[in-house]
Amino acid sequence: MILVTGGAGYVGSHSAKALRLAGYGVVILDNLSAGHREAALGAPLIEGDIRDVDAVRRAIRESRASAVMHFAARLVIAESMRDPAGYYDTNVKGALATLEAMAAEHCHRFVFSSTCAVYGEPTEVPLRETHPTAPINPYGQTKLAVEQALPHFEHAYGIRSIRLRYFNAAGADPEGELGEDHSPEVHAIPRAFDAAAGGPPFEIFGEDYPTPDGTCLRDYVHVTDLADAHVRALHCLEQGGASATYNVGTERPSSVREVMAAVERITGCAVPHRSAPRRTGDPAVLYASAARIRDALGWVPQRAELDTIVRDAWRWHATHPRGY
Ligand SMILES: NC(=O)c1ccc[n+]([C@@H]2O[C@H](COP(=O)([O-])OP(=O)(O)OC[C@H]3O[C@@H](n4cnc5c(N)ncnc54)[C@H](O)[C@@H]3O)[C@@H](O)[C@H]2O)c1
Repeated sequence: MILVTGGAGYVGSHSAKALRLAGYGVVILDNLSAGHREAALGAPLIEGDIRDVDAVRRAIRESRASAVMHFAARLVIAESMRDPAGYYDTNVKGALATLEAMAAEHCHRFVFSSTCAVYGEPTEVPLRETHPTAPINPYGQTKLAVEQALPHFEHAYGIRSIRLRYFNAAGADPEGELGEDHSPEVHAIPRAFDAAAGGPPFEIFGEDYPTPDGTCLRDYVHVTDLADAHVRALHCLEQGGASATYNVGTERPSSVREVMAAVERITGCAVPHRSAPRRTGDPAVLYASAARIRDALGWVPQRAELDTIVRDAWRWHATHPRGY
């Protein structure tokens, strides 16, 4: 049995589905602050908070979980700048409470959702895991703090962990059961859908970057490919694999304008847009080297094409215009 914290959220729900398809039993622990009951797809859902050590202990004990996949977190960079206390509370205290509960219940495998935001401003791309970590916002800092705590939890309590630093999660379950429903939505593809459907114009933050079309380049990784990375990470830990840190990205950057064009192609609608100033802390180019996870876990993204990502996202968005 696998305890999936944040399993009612976007990446967690897709990963919980992938785990079940791979034959695992899944129990979700989520306080539904940003998640959706429907996203559990009928898996047992415990409404509880990761900051509550006793609640996490009970969830591990009662489900007899042999591993925890830890997605629960807050993840809006701008919000983390306004509310660092809240971000440290959920992302650091919550993760440490979860690890404390695991240690107490002798649960020794941990797969952690980290982020490319741990790198900060890149000094070279593609980003390798050996790139220095120097986050430029509290969100990235909270994730790095947990990564840095993990070796101590391994040393003292035997908890082995795989830290997956994902780039931009995007797309939706190709079977149309799950999708992205964040509120507010800060991610480019769903925002472009909203603009195409008559919502506020799509904002392009900076058009004078040193990139081919002047807009930022990002690495969009399909959420089902991310889910597959989680299942592989778990297998590795189950087979006695050592703790490790991996980037999860496609190695293929797309510009904001390319995303807009893909949304126009797939939806058949124009995406009304407007220019907006650069956002602080938005590097021109961010994309992964995924060589390490490819070599170690055999992970190769199956849905890496931007059009595939947008098409899958659109299928869900078109059938769930107001989310779940
Ligand atoms: N979405 C991305 O592009 C992206 C990129 C890199 C890393 N990540 C990381 O992946 C993870 C999942 O991201 P997501 O996009 O699915 O986010 P999400 O908001 O959809 O999911 C997070 C889930 O955690 C739950 N949660 C939050 N605080 C909790 C608490 N205190 N106790 C219990 N549950 C709580 C929420 O209700 C939600 O269901 C996060 O850790 C995030 O930092 C996401």
